[in-house]
Amino acid sequence: MNFNKEQELKRIVQLEDEISRLRGEIEKTSRSEDLESDDPELAKLMLENSKLKHRLSILNKAISAERSSVSSTCISNVDDMISIIDHLTEIFGAAIAASFPTLNDVPTIISAGTSPNPKFGDYQCNSAMNISKVLSAQGNKMSPRDIAAKITQNLLPSPLIERCEVAGAGFINVFLDKNYGINAITSILRNGVRPVSVQKQRIVVDFSSPNIAKEMHVGHLRSTIIGDSIARLLEYLGHDVLRINHIGDWGTQFGMLIAHLEDRFPDYATVSPPISDLQTFYKESKTRFDSDEDFKKRAYAKVVLLQGGDKDSVKGWQLICDVSRNEFQKIYDRLGVEIVERGESFYQSRMEALVSEFEKKGYLEDDNGRKIMWGVVPGEGIPLTIVKSDGGFTYDSSDMATIKQRLEEEKADWLIYVTDSGQATHFKSIFSCAERAKIIDYSRHRIDHVGFGVVLGEDGKKFKTRSGDTVKLIELLDEGLSRSMAKLKEKKRDDVLLPAELKTAQESVAYGCIKYADLSHNRQNEYVFSFDRMLEDKGNTAIYLLYAYTRIKSIARNCGGDFANNIKKVLETTTVSVTHEKEWKLTKVLLKFPDVITKITKDLCLHHLCEFVYEVSTTFTEFYDVCYCIVKNRQGEITSINGGRVLLAEATAQILGVCFHILGLNPLDKI
Ligand code: ARG
Repeated sequence: MNFNKEQELKRIVQLEDEISRLRGEIEKTSRSEDLESDDPELAKLMLENSKLKHRLSILNKAISAERSSVSSTCISNVDDMISIIDHLTEIFGAAIAASFPTLNDVPTIISAGTSPNPKFGDYQCNSAMNISKVLSAQGNKMSPRDIAAKITQNLLPSPLIERCEVAGAGFINVFLDKNYGINAITSILRNGVRPVSVQKQRIVVDFSSPNIAKEMHVGHLRSTIIGDSIARLLEYLGHDVLRINHIGDWGTQFGMLIAHLEDRFPDYATVSPPISDLQTFYKESKTRFDSDEDFKKRAYAKVVLLQGGDKDSVKGWQLICDVSRNEFQKIYDRLGVEIVERGESFYQSRMEALVSEFEKKGYLEDDNGRKIMWGVVPGEGIPLTIVKSDGGFTYDSSDMATIKQRLEEEKADWLIYVTDSGQATHFKSIFSCAERAKIIDYSRHRIDHVGFGVVLGEDGKKFKTRSGDTVKLIELLDEGLSRSMAKLKEKKRDDVLLPAELKTAQESVAYGCIKYADLSHNRQNEYVFSFDRMLEDKGNTAIYLLYAYTRIKSIARNCGGDFANNIKKVLETTTVSVTHEKEWKLTKVLLKFPDVITKITKDLCLHHLCEFVYEVSTTFTEFYDVCYCIVKNRQGEITSINGGRVLLAEATAQILGVCFHILGLNPLDKI
């Protein structure tokens, strides 16, 4: 709640206290029966009494003015979509404070109704039971139902609420107002699906982050898909997002790679070496490194040269990085993922500075030649290795440097790291040490490690090819393409779509289904990669949703005229229809969109959005089955249009379109 509103509510509570004091006084001054009619005491009291009554009426006026001003500040614009749960939490919170001014910290519990029975309302406030317990602990008995009734009486009027009912053990059932629904849907059609307003923040999302000369594996694919979607969501909300690819481009392995490069392609500095398969190149150099002492020595010397900025070594290192970089970029291009490369090497000078700073401040401890650092509670958890015994840096050192660089140089408010959950301990230690070093200040910063589970094959084992090799991502995407084409052909889409349209559909389905299968699972769990399942056209899959979207989108288009070309014009003469039970049900599902988004910004779990789009599509089907939008005659000509319903269908398509954008899906006009 903002400061002003809080002030105003405090003022209301003060006024109410004053009123109840005055009531007591009035009561006292009216007890005149004991006095004789000519008693001067009586005259005094009567005068006092009428003054008090006058004061009371002024206060009552003041309080109702305060109330209506608070109620109007709760919603900045009634036509906008707002987070219903936040709004109800705010106004019920105020009603609870007004009803029980002496109780502190009783939670305002609001939930969206889950019962299909409409008599239970659309949302519930379930605070009364709690309050009753708190009161009875203080020796005040009051039944939850009476408490609920009191809260309801003190509820500020809200344009969202049609009515409230106290039910059962003390639940308050909230029924949404249809006019609010009409206004919110109209606003979507007029202004687009505008995000709930948030305070703009600078956010760094670190995701994908494969390693040079090594396989970019399915774990990196998960990080790429989840990280991109989180970045899309935050960008949609209007934040300033920096997407960082923290690639592993630094470390001792580069010594052996450069030494091997020199031997294989002696003129590499002038003629670009034709390395097509960097993994094989890596394996070759590793074999030499493990078996040949001389080579090993040269490799170590190269690392020192490279870190010292030696021109030839840097050139060799760049060439090797370029080969990987080109491979990674192919994947990003196909998936439509934008990301800025800023690998571990970027932090070399910063790691040096960090170590001397930490040394001075006494954070580092010697441990058999290593320099380690404990977090806020020394001895708890796992310490970081900031400097190895050979003087080199580690994954820990570079991540300490990322936090410092991002918070202090980038001036970020919020840092997000997307990696497999196996790295949870690493990040816990990093965050703790950064807090100890006063780099993170939790009163100003938010830091999240967004972990995810491993990808399994259909056999439930680690994801591998049939022959047991690691799956190459490019090959996986290729298989997706051929599977999706087979699916489209099975559905005879090649008969209706032009070749270019078919290709667009093929890519949208292939990449969409891979992304959606990942995002629709709770990221904390492991998930089974199965093309068969992803491409099922029933159930919560990308292909089902892409079809649903295209169908819904075509409704307004098929109406022609202003419906197809100028929906805003239609709004001048037509009102969104919410009278039929199924129309109202669909509307209420759509109104949940801001709440879903708010929830995801808290836990960064995108499966909530997938559940939402699925609920929207299935509720749309329920609506469309019984509510005709367009009536056609036997010749297939349109004989009548239910404009209010077409508007609702178009708003549904627009919300789905925004959700797809956040999920990285590419919706189609034709499929
Ligand atoms: N390169 C690492 C890996 O492959 C992921 C890096 C994630 N980002 C970070 N700042 N640690 O596991």
